[in-house]
Amino acid sequence: MNLDLITPILPANEAAVASAARCLAEGGLVAFPTETVYGLGADAANPVAIARLYQAKGRPSFNPLIAHVGDLQAGMRIARFDATATALAEAFWPGPLTLVLPKTRDCLVADLATAGLDTVAVRVPAHPVARAILRAFGGPVVAPSANLSGHVSPTTAQHVHSDLVGRIDLIVDGGAVAVGVESTIVGCFDAPMLLRPGGLPRDEIERVLSRALVQPPQDADNDGGQPLAPGMLASHYAPRTPVRLNAERIEAGEALLAFGPGIVAGVDTSNAVMNLSARGDLNEAAANLFGYLRALDNRKARAIAVMPVPHHGLGEAINDRLRRAAMGRD
Ligand code: TXA
Ligand code: MG
Repeated sequence: MNLDLITPILPANEAAVASAARCLAEGGLVAFPTETVYGLGADAANPVAIARLYQAKGRPSFNPLIAHVGDLQAGMRIARFDATATALAEAFWPGPLTLVLPKTRDCLVADLATAGLDTVAVRVPAHPVARAILRAFGGPVVAPSANLSGHVSPTTAQHVHSDLVGRIDLIVDGGAVAVGVESTIVGCFDAPMLLRPGGLPRDEIERVLSRALVQPPQDADNDGGQPLAPGMLASHYAPRTPVRLNAERIEAGEALLAFGPGIVAGVDTSNAVMNLSARGDLNEAAANLFGYLRALDNRKARAIAVMPVPHHGLGEAINDRLRRAAMGRD
């Protein structure tokens, strides 16, 4: 990847907000303060920008991202709010609460940002700089914490700079942030579930709901014997069609998920072919991954055969998600 970006730090003012919005619209990566921690923002509707974002953070897997919006109305364009979700949004937004909700039919958040799930995490941040950037940009912005994967979340622009200099396009400096821990995440499922404790205390949420938040199941998606990471609910995206990895040839009636310029034997009798990146570009492949899996899943093929994907760069995260897709549904 390009590690030679300039990465200016601009003091938060009108000009910086305008630059940030322009940069996001061009597919750039912008770090900005929220009231919890600094976020690394990208246009939620631009899968290529989101692939760059994962790469800049050095994440070994595509964890789903939080879509930041300016207000509840903007949230309702991407997610379906039931009575519980509406009550929580009205009580705590803007603020350090993220809601995981079903996507709307015309949700424009890219599949890569939600890791192919049918749900999307939404939050309205309270920080005036975050709000100004969202207003100027005019669409949802996905933003994980603006640190390298495995490092602690940044609470100052200097923290962001020391982790991400050269890897992102702009840092907007709004000073030290107030809360210092990430937002609380609540999954609005049949019973509202505390997916990650955070800046908004559980009892304040329970007071509004007049009920206790349920705990996530401890062993769902627990293939490695590890405890569930906070915030990571159970399900990963998996097609209904069986997925066969590292295919060297394809059988009649299978659909092919190809990678690179090579040709595999048996392609002429395939059900369908989609190439993640004919030129072998892993960022392009990441941007296409979940959308193509979904499209091939709709072909009702015997199986989806997947050509080998190299393991460097974003290849590690792509292979992680392909492996989960091949394990099937929970
Ligand atoms: O305070 C915060 O929430 C900060 C600021 C920048 O807004 N952001 C943040 O993002 O902490 P991140 O990417 O570090 O954490 C997002 C969490 C992850 O644990 C992810 O698994 C969970 O949100 N998440 C996102 N979408 C989800 C979904 N559809 N279902 C379940 N969990 C989801
Ligand atoms: Mg984080």
